[in-house]
Order: sequence, then structure tokens, then C-alpha cells
Amino acid sequence: MVGVLMVAEKPSLALSIAQILSNHKCVSRKGFNGACSVHEWTGSFQGLQGVKFKMTSVCGHVNTLDFPSKYNNWDRVDPSELFYCSTEKKEATPKLKMPAFLAAEAKHNEFLVLWLDCDKEGENICFEVMNCVLDSMKRPQGGMRQFHRAKFSSITDKDIKLAMNTLVEPDENQSKSVDARQELDLRIGCAFTRFQTKFFQGKYGDLDSSLISYGPCQTPTLGFCVGRHDIIQTFKPETYWTIAVKVKTELSGRQLVLDWDRQRCFDKEVAQLFLSDVKSHKYATVTNISSKEKAKERPIALNTVELMRVASSGLGMGPHHAMQIAEKLYIQGFISYPRTESTHYSENFDLKDALRQHQNSSDWGAEVRELLSQGINKPKKGHDAGDHPPITPMRAASRDQLDGDSWRVYDYVVRHFIASLSRNCKYLSTVITIAIGDESFSMTGKKTIDPGFTALMTWQTLLEDDENLPTVNKGDQLMIDDVRLLEKQTSPPDYLTESDLITLMEKHGIGTDASIPVHINNICQRNYVTIGAGRKLIPTTLGIVLVHGYLKIDPDLVHPQMRSAVEEQLDLIAHGRANFKSVLKHTLEIFKLKFQYFVSNISGMDQLFEVSFSTLAESGRPFSRCGKCRRFMKYVMAKPSRLYCNTCDETLNLPQNGNIKLYQELKCPLDDFEILYVTAGGSGKSYVFCPYCYNNPPFREMRKDMGCNSCTHPTCTHGQNSNGVSQCVECEEGILVLDAASIPKWKLGCNRCDVIIRLFNDAAKVSVLDEKNCSECDAQIMKVEYKEGKSKLEEGELTAEGCIYCDESLSRLVEKHHAVLMRRRPNRQGTGRGGAGRGRGKPGRGRGGKRGKVPKDKMAQLAAYFV
Ligand SMILES: *[C@@H]1O[C@H](CO)[C@@H](O)[C@H](O)[C@H]1NC(C)=O
Ligand SMILES: *[C@@H]1O[C@H](CO)[C@@H](O)[C@H](O)[C@H]1NC(C)=O
Ligand SMILES: *[C@@H]1O[C@H](CO)[C@@H](O)[C@H](O)[C@H]1NC(C)=O
Ligand SMILES: *[C@@H]1O[C@H](CO)[C@@H](O)[C@H](O)[C@H]1NC(C)=O
Repeated sequence: MVGVLMVAEKPSLALSIAQILSNHKCVSRKGFNGACSVHEWTGSFQGLQGVKFKMTSVCGHVNTLDFPSKYNNWDRVDPSELFYCSTEKKEATPKLKMPAFLAAEAKHNEFLVLWLDCDKEGENICFEVMNCVLDSMKRPQGGMRQFHRAKFSSITDKDIKLAMNTLVEPDENQSKSVDARQELDLRIGCAFTRFQTKFFQGKYGDLDSSLISYGPCQTPTLGFCVGRHDIIQTFKPETYWTIAVKVKTELSGRQLVLDWDRQRCFDKEVAQLFLSDVKSHKYATVTNISSKEKAKERPIALNTVELMRVASSGLGMGPHHAMQIAEKLYIQGFISYPRTESTHYSENFDLKDALRQHQNSSDWGAEVRELLSQGINKPKKGHDAGDHPPITPMRAASRDQLDGDSWRVYDYVVRHFIASLSRNCKYLSTVITIAIGDESFSMTGKKTIDPGFTALMTWQTLLEDDENLPTVNKGDQLMIDDVRLLEKQTSPPDYLTESDLITLMEKHGIGTDASIPVHINNICQRNYVTIGAGRKLIPTTLGIVLVHGYLKIDPDLVHPQMRSAVEEQLDLIAHGRANFKSVLKHTLEIFKLKFQYFVSNISGMDQLFEVSFSTLAESGRPFSRCGKCRRFMKYVMAKPSRLYCNTCDETLNLPQNGNIKLYQELKCPLDDFEILYVTAGGSGKSYVFCPYCYNNPPFREMRKDMGCNSCTHPTCTHGQNSNGVSQCVECEEGILVLDAASIPKWKLGCNRCDVIIRLFNDAAKVSVLDEKNCSECDAQIMKVEYKEGKSKLEEGELTAEGCIYCDESLSRLVEKHHAVLMRRRPNRQGTGRGGAGRGRGKPGRGRGGKRGKVPKDKMAQLAAYFV
């Protein structure tokens, strides 16, 4: 029997597409990786009958590009090596076991149909998938093509079935352009980021950012925001004068304010000449009245950039959030694919049919019915970028089907769509010209004739101010009531709004419709800009100093031309007009030279840092004693928090996002540093640690960033040998270790994963008994002691000893939780869609001590108490 494997980009898409292709007759099962389902049915394929179809999915990118792990050691690797060292594709999410899963499902199948999203990233994932299944598939008979690509823009019956009948070949050049972008961003971003992070964090204590990142897109994005800031800062207000005249009509006696045609005058003496001329008259004369019909044009079809702009300026939603919602609406079949540059409806798109879907809506049904009966207007000519059609609604939804923000985005997409087929807004614009001596003044007013599309896009409604205009005739005389000279000042422009920034990025070719929201999000997260009222982007001192530093050393690092030139090259690769290798080589050579120049000129940037930030020696407060010099080290609280010893000039990293305290002034037996305790609130992880061991692991099995609960010191009372209770109930490598500092909310925490076991709440003392193991499960025996009146033990006993898993009287006082995860230091910037390039800390692989192994059935038993 012939088999066809099909792969979509997300599990929910696989299900929707399978239901459409199988006419809702597919049978579903879970894949062995637990994350992706497989949907199966029988049908025909390319003239073959009784073909077995299998539809499944990946979860975004299968692979991520990274350096081999030896290059991810910041202390040992010179960042300039990152321009040429080897790279490797790693599994983007090892937990999903995606390559093995795909290979297993592909076995005995002859054909592969790729249903990845139809953009460059999607094309790249196609090749990742093909790589996984190549070896396990059978060759089709008779030289038929094995790998097929489906091209579609929405999850509708029509689109999906059409795509299935017009399969094409996957496009390797598009995929290559993504490979090139990933590699460039990884190498350039990491080299600069590592160098400047180490340089500046080693010197300053109040930078308040855990990573001083550079990104080929991120930095020009920041550059726009700082550029506007500089204009505001260097703006010198100028004084000007204007003549304000009020007149009265003879009939009604109503007072009217006139606008001076010269508007403003920057010379006071000249302004006074005009003033005395005007003042010498008693009457103003109406010299002309002109009324013209004008139009405010309906919008062109919606693309991603416009959606993000309106979401930010109209809905108050950041572009990153807005795109996540749009993507959800797409997957649910409510709107078409939301990542597109096109603003032109394709000729075969049935506009009327799409409109008819909405005629029963209680929100815009009336407008739709009217449009359908009067005939729709030809949409304005837009730009066809040849990618996806513009964003349109695909299915009618009502307010109660969608949650708040989803509804708001959907509502906008629908209104925009209907508006693009609606009439222009027509209005009458009236100008009354008035003369006083030789000076001209005027009054203007607008009156709506036909609201057209603004009936739908109500926020675009014209401000009518026609009622302010008097009824006058040419030649009428108006009595002058008041004349004065007003002194005013010019004002600087405002900070860029997010919507302005999106416009600038689009104009200068920084990022793509898919990555623009990611770059904006990044500069906020790195604390380079903050979002002010009206979603204005206000750069922080750090953001400003960075950009000024680049401008001082090498403006190319900030100016957008450099990046747009690179994006053009990438586009050439995508269209088969440039060679992948040579583009990569050429670009890396340029950036390597720029990097070297930057490194040797860094003092130029440092001079700017010196003025704005405090050195480590000046920051922080005395906290705990250094084991080497016995003097107090300083606790630097800004991000990243650190300990700094002034005497030894040594910096020790601390766990981030936790609250750090001294632990009874106890010392580490290995190095004499004072032991500290970190807690991340009631639901977070907590453990004691020695700040020196945390940075310089004392034993082979220990890695950096580990606490005493991972320390294999044979006798130390803080180590895992003294406090370990059993193997973790969830992960394979971890040990559950008593947090001896957690009194009175006692807990055990896994020293590898985020499992937390709470137990013996309010007990006065909890300890792990050495040398005593449970005879049933081999877990360490624990002892609990309560104060009078607080006991939760049976019959109010004050102390008990036993196994927390097997002794029923103790196990009922035990609960499992998951810690709220502490974030690790990411090692580089995110690039585009999820998978690619999000740093993950590697869990250590230390061998645990000889602790009890909890048998499976005991775990199940314990599970009964889990909340
Ligand atoms: C005066 O108004 C008429 C229309 O009423 C217009 O055609 C003409 O251009 C106007 N003249 C001036 C000088 O604005
Ligand atoms: C709208 O309502 C009419 C009458 O109730 C019904 O015939 C029609 O199918 C509905 N159209 C849509 C698109 O739901
Ligand atoms: C891909 O690019 C190569 C040149 O690098 C070109 O020869 C080839 O025709 C391109 N393929 C497609 C499908 O455009
Ligand atoms: C900048 O770097 C170049 C090249 O390494 C070097 O020749 C030059 O002296 C540096 N300039 C400054 C101001 O340090």
C-alpha cells in the first residue's frame, strides 16, 4: 500500500488540514513524543487509489543553529573566533524528539507533502523535515516526485483542497536565505554581544541589563528611537508671534476667531508692524467663500505592517502581542495568513463571497447588506508582493466566540476588509477668506456628505466643525472685536510611537513582517527603551549611551543602510540570484573587520559609559565576607546582580530573580566564603549556595550556577550527601534535597528540575537522618519535630521519624508542586519565529550521590497527594 506523510507547522494546523482533506473522516492518535498527534485516512493521490494518508506536524523549527558547546563558554572563547568557528544544527526542542518522531512516522511511506507555513521560515522548516525523513522513506515507483510542497494562504476547504491539487516543489533557495540569515545573526550578534557584555559588566554596577546585546537588526531599531531622542534633546525652541483676531457678525453678534494667513512671524518688530496695520481698521471684509467637495480615501487591503501599526496606535497592543493573536485567529480559521506584505487582492479572490459571510453580523451586518445590494466598490490598487494575499476575514465570528483581545484584532481585520470595498468618505470643505487692510485671514469648516467607509472605521470619522462657520456673503463687513499679538514658542517633535517605528523599519528594510515585532520586543526587554503613554518609545540611558558609542566608533553599526544591504543580499539568495556561500563569506569578512576595529576603539564608548554609570567599586552595599581577604564584598543589586570584592577586584555572579540573604553567617568549608540563601517567593525554588562555588564549581560533577544541594562534598552539612532524600519523582538525574533554610514552610527541591515537595508545614525542625534508609523504597529517613500545639502528626505527637513516601502517617503531610522557573541568562538574541536562536541553559549532568530510587508504584502513590 502506498503511503503519504504530510507535515504541518503546528499540531492544531495538522488537525484542521487533516479534517478538510479527509472530509472529517480521519482517525487520530498521539505520536510517541507526546506533543504531536497523527491523523490518518485513506484516499487517492496523484492518480493512485487506496493511498494511506498520515498527517502530523512539527512545533515550529526542528533545528536551531548554534556553536558547538565548547564555544559557548564565555570565559574561554575569544569572541572574534565566532566569525569563523564551526556551527552546528541542534534540535530546537530536544524534549520533543522531533527528528526521531518524524523518521519513525515516515517509515514505509513513499511520499512527503509539506504543509509548512508559506513564507521563508516555513520553506526552511520544509528542508529540516526532509532531512529527518530522508533515510527512512521508501522510493516511489516509476520515477514519481517524492517531496511535495503545498502552497496555501488560509485554512479553508477551498484553499487547502486547491493546494493539494496543485502541489509544487519545495524551494531550496528560499530555505538557504533563511540559513544565511540565521548564521549571520548568530555569528555577528554573539561576537559583539559577548565582547561588550563582558567589557561593560566587568566595569559598571548599575547597567540594569543582564545582556548588553548587539543585533544587526535590533541595534538599528534602537538607533531610530535614540535618533528621535537626540532631536528632542538638541531642539532649541524659537519664539514667534502671531496675530489673533476676533470679529463679530452684524446679525447674530456671534464672536468668530480668524486664522492669520501668515500664521507666524519670527521677528517681533515686523509682527508689530502688521499688528498696527490691522489695529487701524474697524471692519473686516469677506473677500471670498469657496466650498469644495473632498474625499478621504478608503483603505487599501491590509498587510502585516499596517495591522501592527493600528494594533499599537488604535488598540494599544504591542506588535508582538498583536501578531500572536493574529496567528491564533489564523490557526482557528477566522482570518487568512497574517504575515504578508501584499496590499492587493488577487484577481480570483471572491470578494463578494467573503463579504456575504458577514451579512448576519450584529456588529457590521447592516453595512455589509447595504454594500451587497448597492454593489461593492473596486478595491484600491495595492502592491502585490507575490507572497500571501492581504489579511482578510475567512469566517464570521461573534463576540462571545473570542476572548477580549482576539475579538478586538478580529473586529479590526473585518472592519478594514469591509472598508476597503466601501465608498470613500466625502465631505464639503469651506474656506471663507477675509481681508483686514492688506492682511488676509480665513475661517475653515468641514461637513460630511457621505461617511462612506468611516461608518465602519469609526475612529476615522471626520471631525465636523462646519457649524462654527457663520452665514455670510462675499463683500459682508464684520466688526473687529479684539486684536492681539500672541507670543509663542516652537516645540520639539515627540518621541517615536511604536507605530512610527514600524513605519521607519519598513521604509529602511530593517527586519521582515515576521521579525519586526521581535526586534521591538527585544529592545524593550533589554531595557534599552521603555514604553511610555500612547505607546511612545523612550530610550533609557543605557540605550542612548550604546547608540552614541556606536556612532562615535563606527556609525555603520547603527545606521540602517548596512542591514538593508544585507537583507537585499539575502533576498537575492532567495530568488536564486546570489550564491549562499559567497554572500555569507563576504558579509562575515566585513563584520569581522568592523568587530576588530570596534574592539580596539572601545575606549571611545567607555568614555560615555563612565559619565553615565557607576563603576562596580562605587556601586552596591557591603553584604557578605570574601573567603580570600575576609573583607566585606558588595552586593550589586542592578541586573545582573553580583557580588564584587573591592580588595580582590573579583566579581561573582549570583542567581538572578531571587531574593538573596545571608545564611546564619555560616561558611563554606572549602573556601571560607559566607554561605547565602536564595528564595524566589513562596512558589519558587530556594537553596543555599556558596557564592564562590557557584562560580567556580569545586567538584567534577558540579557545574557553574549550582547550589549546595548539588554539592557532593562528603561531609559538609549543606551538601546533597547530608540533605538528599531520594531520587526526583519526575526527572531522571535529579535528587530531592531538603532546603534546611526553608523553616517553617519546609520543602524539598529537586537539584535539577523544578519539582518542589512541600512537607511538614509549621514544623520546628526537619532533618534528614544520616545512614538510615527506608527498607521499602530506599529513600532517606526523615525526622520532624513540632512545637506543642502545632503538631499535625497523628494523636498530636511532637516528633516522628520515617519515610515520607512509605509511612502513611508522614506521606499525608507531603505535597508536590512545580517551582515558578527562574530565568537563566540567555546567551543571545531571539531571531524570528520561536525556535531559531533562543538560548537555553544546559542542565548539568552530575551523577547524583547514592540516594534511594523511588519505585514507580510509590511515585504513583505519592501522586495521589499531589495538588
Ligand atoms: C473664490 O471662490 C471661488 C469659488 O466660490 C473660487 O473659484 C476662486 O478660486 C476663489 N478665489 C480665490 C482668490 O480664492
Ligand atoms: C444569514 O441569515 C439568513 C436568514 O436567516 C440565512 O438564510 C443565511 O444563510 C445566513 N447567512 C450566513 C452567511 O450565515
Ligand atoms: C536557485 O539558485 C540557483 C543559483 O544559486 C539557481 O541556479 C536556481 O535556478 C535557483 N532555483 C530556483 C528554483 O529558483
Ligand atoms: C581604532 O582602531 C584602529 C584599528 O585598530 C586603530 O588604528 C586606531 O588607533 C583606533 N583609534 C582609537 C582612537 O583608539
